[in-house]
Amino acid sequence: MGKKNKGAIMGPILAEFGIKKIDDRQLLAGLEKKFGSEGRRIYQQFDEFSPAGITEEELEQRLKAKDDPFNQTELYDFENTSLEAGMLFTAYADADVISSFSQWLYNNQSFLGKNILEVGCGNGILTAFLARLCPQAHITAVDRSANSIAVAQQVKARLKLENVDFLACDVKDLPAAAYDTVISLRTLHENTRPLWTPFRFLPFSQQLELFRTLYHAHISCLCPFVAEGGHLLAIERVTPGIPLLACLQEMNDGGLFPASPVGEVHARETNLMEPTAFASLVLTKSETRSAENVFCFWSGPLFGDPEDPRFWPEEQVDYELEKMQETLLAGYASYTPEGMQCAQSSIHSIKNDPGHFLLLQANLETKRLGYFSNSRQSEVLSLLEHQKLRDRQSGCQIRDLHS
Ligand SMILES: C[S@@+](CC[C@H](N)C(=O)[O-])C[C@H]1O[C@@H](n2cnc3c(N)ncnc32)[C@H](O)[C@@H]1O
Repeated sequence: MGKKNKGAIMGPILAEFGIKKIDDRQLLAGLEKKFGSEGRRIYQQFDEFSPAGITEEELEQRLKAKDDPFNQTELYDFENTSLEAGMLFTAYADADVISSFSQWLYNNQSFLGKNILEVGCGNGILTAFLARLCPQAHITAVDRSANSIAVAQQVKARLKLENVDFLACDVKDLPAAAYDTVISLRTLHENTRPLWTPFRFLPFSQQLELFRTLYHAHISCLCPFVAEGGHLLAIERVTPGIPLLACLQEMNDGGLFPASPVGEVHARETNLMEPTAFASLVLTKSETRSAENVFCFWSGPLFGDPEDPRFWPEEQVDYELEKMQETLLAGYASYTPEGMQCAQSSIHSIKNDPGHFLLLQANLETKRLGYFSNSRQSEVLSLLEHQKLRDRQSGCQIRDLHS
């Protein structure tokens, strides 16, 4: 552990730039104070990028609607037109994130080597924390937003940080080199497209494959930067279910295996009403483990009683259904008037178990699997007919499913 506690390192950095959590009203007042009448226009433009009170789903819809929804560089360049503006937006949007993330980095400092790469460093406040936490280390910090890096250079100068180099570049254009530690904080989701797609009614292995395809390019770019025996430390927006497995399997292909259980870091990003639960990952570069090991690592803490479908989380429902089912016997899928699938009910025969069948019931919130003796098939079929009628009456389009 370092000699100083986290607050003693972070406190002076926050004080130097006046970073303290502020709300919308204070952001507007701060912008007006710094930029006069121009301040309100800047605030309104920011609100267009990132409206207050927006939920994650709404944000995603907005991002999807843009031409290149996953390149948010425009927003980061906008927030960092000057040191003052950058620090105000940081105080507004990231004060809580900075506090939680720096605590996690502090707790995991034993994984920080002498030669560190930070990917997507933004305007460098967390990088400054790292630089002071590890004065003996050298940090290369990159970001593809040129304005963020221009502000980070000023942060470096003001704090007289001698052990950091900030570079304006996309990590995919960074020259090949091996670092003891690679750090990625909130950057993965900006390099995977799309952010979320309704994969949930697809079979387990198809969902996994689709998520792996989304992560492949970025993760296979990151892994070679980690030196043999080195570590990747990441706090990312990754859903703990199948997307996390896909992410870990892509990392496994790049030689990285989790050094400890996947954790959660909670932080309130101001524009979102609820605190976001980020996945925290510590991975070690070692001889490649098998995808099967990764599967066990992921499913161990997640999966419920293997014998009892009542305790299965939905990832396990998908997994067991794919493993157990022989044939789809009957079923239907419901679609919203916009054409999005919103439910499925189906019955399936079971491999090597001719006396029983499985009933899958899934909608956008839940997914359950029932195990029934064949004597109950007609009862379950009439339940399906009843549900189908109810879904149709509520305005859904119905499609029968066939094997
Ligand atoms: C949400 S911000 C996070 C900033 C900082 N890491 C933090 O957690 O406070 C994501 C940052 O990553 C940068 N970024 C995303 N993808 C990148 C890439 N492929 N190469 C370089 N920078 C990237 C963005 O420009 C942005 O500044």
